[in-house]
Amino acid sequence: MTSHGTLPSLDVHLDEAAADAALREDARRGLTSTPKVLRPQWLYDARGSELFEQITALPEYYPFTAEREALADGADDVARLSGADTFVELGSGSSTKSTLLLDAMSRTGTLRRYIPVDVSAAALEEAVPALVAGYPDLDVRGVVADFTANLHSIPRVGSRLVVLLGGTIGNFEPEQRRDFLAALADTLDAGEHFLVGTDLIKDEATLVAAYDDAAGVTAEFERNALTVLNRVLGADFDVDGFSYVAAWVPQSSRIEMRVRADRPMTVSVPALDLTVSFAEGEEMRTEISTKFTREGIASELDAAGFDVAHWFTDPAGRFGLTLARRR
Ligand code: SAH
Ligand code: AVI
Repeated sequence: MTSHGTLPSLDVHLDEAAADAALREDARRGLTSTPKVLRPQWLYDARGSELFEQITALPEYYPFTAEREALADGADDVARLSGADTFVELGSGSSTKSTLLLDAMSRTGTLRRYIPVDVSAAALEEAVPALVAGYPDLDVRGVVADFTANLHSIPRVGSRLVVLLGGTIGNFEPEQRRDFLAALADTLDAGEHFLVGTDLIKDEATLVAAYDDAAGVTAEFERNALTVLNRVLGADFDVDGFSYVAAWVPQSSRIEMRVRADRPMTVSVPALDLTVSFAEGEEMRTEISTKFTREGIASELDAAGFDVAHWFTDPAGRFGLTLARRR
């Protein structure tokens, strides 16, 4: 672990060399597979985090508002039922909605620590100073880490509530989701809690509009993965030569976000010593966003070793939150 150069309240648990090697391996596998596919981590450089913030303000992107409404109603119950003194948030981003939980947990008087964890150093550098200033009685310590690889580095202090908001659990493939839940269960002691936000299955038009907004912000966010590949791997993607597609895939209950080559293209990726061809119209998946039912997420949590302690939604029932207790 290293302390961050500029912020004393930010720790880096990311082994840069290992993270870099994992991303390269992902790009090699993804760019040479059929169909081509990338991990969502490619989306969140500083520009990507900024674009995600813009997405949360889009009129079509209801998950953000819906989860905030649900938390406004349910945060006090979460604070009371979890009784936690340590709030660990995975993929915390700007921590905007987290303040609802921070305030509720501060009111119960048990909260001592808030540990926002994100792979994006830029997001934490922006969020942590404001949190430190806004919650002077709390020990706020940001951690730059990949929660798919570094769950064991979550501090083993106090009684913990681990939180994953935003529907981020929906960005995993089913197998990755199972592995993540198993690893989390392994990290937590009996009686500790996990709060997870899940977007719920609804009509296709609403779902697709949320991921294909009229202003084109989501398109820019997904195409940013190509810009990151260009910068990090020295690739020469012509980013403007790719259109954006958001498709609802009912068999897997998910929106798939893809970039589509507008013409045949050959892309060289010097860092991987690789040349990749795209046929006209060929699509590469940049992200998935799985949608859930109350029963579906409850049964996945049960299989991983959690009991459901509480379930709540926004008033319109668009987005669900499950508070689960480690058995
Ligand atoms: N929780 C916020 C942000 C959601 S966006 C909200 O609900 O609005 C998803 C966040 O997860 C981003 O900030 C991204 O940088 C982070 N993230 C994605 N994959 C990650 C990983 N493997 N490890 C750590 N953080 C990750
Ligand atoms: C963070 N994640 C859960 C968002 C989602 O809704 O799947 C990411 C996103 N991608 C495009 N729009 C929003």
